[in-house]
This record gives sequence, structure tokens and C-alpha cells, in this order.
Amino acid sequence: HDTKTPPYATSDKTSFAYISARDRWPVIITGAIDDVFRTLSESNDAEKNAEGKRIIEDLVALKYELQHDRKLSPIRDDGTPDVALYNHELEALGTPSWFNVPWLFSECYLYKRMSTSFSMSQHWKSYDVFARQKNDTFRSSRPAVYEIATRFKDLVNGLAAKTEEAANKTPEEHEEAQRLLFVEMCEICLWGNATDLSLLTSLSYEDIQKLQGAKARKESEKNILANDLQQAYDTLKKARDEGKKERRVDIVLDNSGFELYVDLILASYLLTSGLATLVVLHPKSIPWFVSDVLPSDFASILGALANPKGFFAASSTPAAEDGKDAAASSSSTAAAPLSDAEAADISFVFSQLAQHHAEGELLLRPNRFWTHGGSFWRLPASDPELHEDLKTSELVIFKGDLNYRKLTGDAMWDPTTPFTEAIGPLGPGSGVNVMALRTCKADVVVGLQPGLDEELRAREGGGGDSGSRKWAWSGQYAVVSYSGGK
Ligand code: F6P
Ligand code: MG
Repeated sequence: HDTKTPPYATSDKTSFAYISARDRWPVIITGAIDDVFRTLSESNDAEKNAEGKRIIEDLVALKYELQHDRKLSPIRDDGTPDVALYNHELEALGTPSWFNVPWLFSECYLYKRMSTSFSMSQHWKSYDVFARQKNDTFRSSRPAVYEIATRFKDLVNGLAAKTEEAANKTPEEHEEAQRLLFVEMCEICLWGNATDLSLLTSLSYEDIQKLQGAKARKESEKNILANDLQQAYDTLKKARDEGKKERRVDIVLDNSGFELYVDLILASYLLTSGLATLVVLHPKSIPWFVSDVLPSDFASILGALANPKGFFAASSTPAAEDGKDAAASSSSTAAAPLSDAEAADISFVFSQLAQHHAEGELLLRPNRFWTHGGSFWRLPASDPELHEDLKTSELVIFKGDLNYRKLTGDAMWDPTTPFTEAIGPLGPGSGVNVMALRTCKADVVVGLQPGLDEELRAREGGGGDSGSRKWAWSGQYAVVSYSGGK
């Protein structure tokens, strides 16, 4: 069920796959080792500490194997059914080595392998080695969190109050205003994906803020290279206008922290505007690509929003002090207390979310499929139940770069290939309406106008004639792609 188009591989020195394996993954493993060290140093539990040391040894061995281009070894059986899937795939690939393996599979393997070191212990079973980083970065996003909370509050009040201004609008003007609101909410949600932790390991506090504000979003509109938002809007509007009783939207989540925050804002907007009556969120089941959402992150973000003064005022942490985390360290210098007005606006977001949750309109639905090593081309065949479930949704929104790579099989498509073709079995006829909201952080891209890739490569830093599609690596550009599956 895989695409016939060959996938990107770590052996290709012009691809971001090679650079990821050579430069980024060792840094990520080292960060995990440091994190376990730190937790160890804070614990007096001898058994836990002995296990922690064994976990560190595992992680050191993993880093060694990667950096010395050893073969990917079978994953130890931690009792989860996906271990067999990973190990069968390794065999099918002929037990490849780190620098000669499909990028998508090897990167998923990396996180699955790390997670088994923890899951096979007694005391670290549910330990999230990336939780500290996720929390610290969310703290650094405070100005944008507040800015968006304020905008959201105005918008919800506007939707509820049917203000005079709205009453004076012609139906056409009203409709156009609704459409623009949808576009704005989706763009906020899209650019929230620019700040994931696996890629942006060295962002400063100021850099993060620049990426997140309203001004940045306006300036970035020209960087959306393919934009199918209108089709997604039409789909949701049609369901609402037809008076369909349950109108469900799914969000296959990507990153925690700021991105999850804007996903929740989008979810709440969809519910409040009546474009959806139910939003189902799909988190990951193991610590994944550093910053991806786990069910525990959902709980932490709600906790932070419920108590914004406490969360955002927290001063510098030891991680920040030792200078390992640029974002966290600079956040400590900028932490003036939240004003009452700021805290009230953030609490407003919390109260809306809590209400949706209490009314059963906002659900979290984990599934191990999302942390398998293969692409979503396999979804209908390998998890028919999940496929059936997604068919009942009006729109399934896939957030972020990795989900886009999985939708398209992370394959070396010609960039003008239609999105509907590149997503194979999830395309037309699948019964699933798909929308990808993705900032580009990898080589694969489809749905571009002829000549656009060449034009972007010719720009400064775009890759030129190096053979690398460098413009697509930094999260500066984005694609919003839709496929009607019904
Ligand atoms: O390309 C860089 C990268 O870290 C990939 O490894 C991965 O696909 C992606 O970014 C993670 O980004 P996102 O959180 O948007 O999926
Ligand atoms: Mg991610």
C-alpha cells in the first residue's frame, strides 16, 4: 500500500534527511540524556536512579550507533503491538544502516526506540523526556498567547452578541465576514506550526515571539504557496446550511505548547460559529518528534490556561540557568507578572474550552496508529476501524510537517503533482475529507504551480543549483491543501 514514488532517504546528501540524521538527531538524543540526568539529580529514589542510569546508557548507545552508521537494531519487545510492525519493516528493508534508510521510517524508529528505554522500566514508564522543553517553550510564547486570547474573546463576544454592526450587514457582507474569520483562525492555526521543537532547537525568546504575532501572520500570507482554505470552508458551510445534526471536525494534532493552544482556539471557534458540533483531537501515544502532543500535554495546557498567573509568572528553571535551552533562558529575563486584564483574557479561553469539554463537544481520541513507522497511505488497509471513524467526520485537519510527510508518503514527488494524487488511498474516493495545514520543514512538497519550486530555489538561501530544496526546510513557507474524499 505504499507509494511507488521513492521516498526520501538519509543516504541522499542533498536532502534534509541527511542533515537531520547527521546534525539534528544527535542533538535531540543528547538533550534527552541531559533531561534524564537532571531528573536523576533531583531524585533520592535509589531504584529509580539505577534504572535512570540504564536508560542513559541505552540513549548513549543509540547515539553511538547513529553516529557510526551502524545497522538499526530490532526494537525490544515492550509489550506494545507496534514493536512487531517496526521490526518486520526493518527486516523488509534488509536491516539498513542509519545513513542508508528511508527518512520517514528511520525518524519514527528513532522515537520508538527511545520510548522503549523508558517503557521497559518500572519507574520511568510514563516519563516524557521532552516535557520540560515543551513547558518552557509554551511559557516563552506568553505575548502571543495573550494577543490571541484577546482576539478570540472579542470574536466570541461578537459572534454571541450579534452586534449592531452585524445586523447592519447585507447577507453577502455577513457571509464574507464569516469566511474571513474562518481564514484568519486557520492561518493562526497554520503558523502555530512554525515553532516545533525538533527543528527550532536554538530559537531565542524574541525569535519565537516574532513568529507568532498578528503582524508576522499578515507578512507571511504571501508565503502560503498553495491555499485551499476556501474548499475546506465550503465543505463545513455546506454541512451547516444543510442542517446536518452532527458536524464533526477532526484535528490530527502535531505540537504541544503554542501550536496546541492555537489548535484549541480553532476548535473552539468552529464550535462557537456552528461550523462544527463536535471536534475530535488525535494526540500521539509516545513521546514523539520532541514536541508532539501527548494526552498529558492536553492536561498541562488546560492547567496552564486555568491558572495563567501561576504558569506564566514561573521564574527561571535550572534548565534555563545552565543555558541549554535558549528559549527558556531568555524567558526568565522577561517574566514580569501578568496583569489582571491579561490573565482574565487567558482564563476566558480556558472557560470556553472547559465548557466544550464538559458538554462533550471536544474529545481527545488517542490511537497507536499515529506513532507507527509507515505513511498514511497504509491507513485504510492497516487500520480499517480508524478509517471508518474518520469517514464520519466532515473534515480531518492534519497539522504540521510530519503529518504532511506521512500523508504524501514522504516521497520524491514532482512538486506540481496534485495533492489529491500524492495522498493516494486517502484521496478522492476514500470517504475522508482531508485538509493539511503545514509549514514546510522537509523536502517533500506537492500541489505547486509549475515553475514555483524553481523560483523559490533561485531565491537567496533557496538552494540554488545545489540540488537541495533548501527553501522548504525552515518553516518559512507553508501549504494548505485540501482533498475531498466523499
Ligand atoms: O524536517 C524537520 C522535522 O523535524 C522533521 O523531522 C519532522 O517532519 C518535522 O520537522 C517535525 O515538524 P512538525 O512538528 O511540524 O511535524
Ligand atoms: Mg511535531
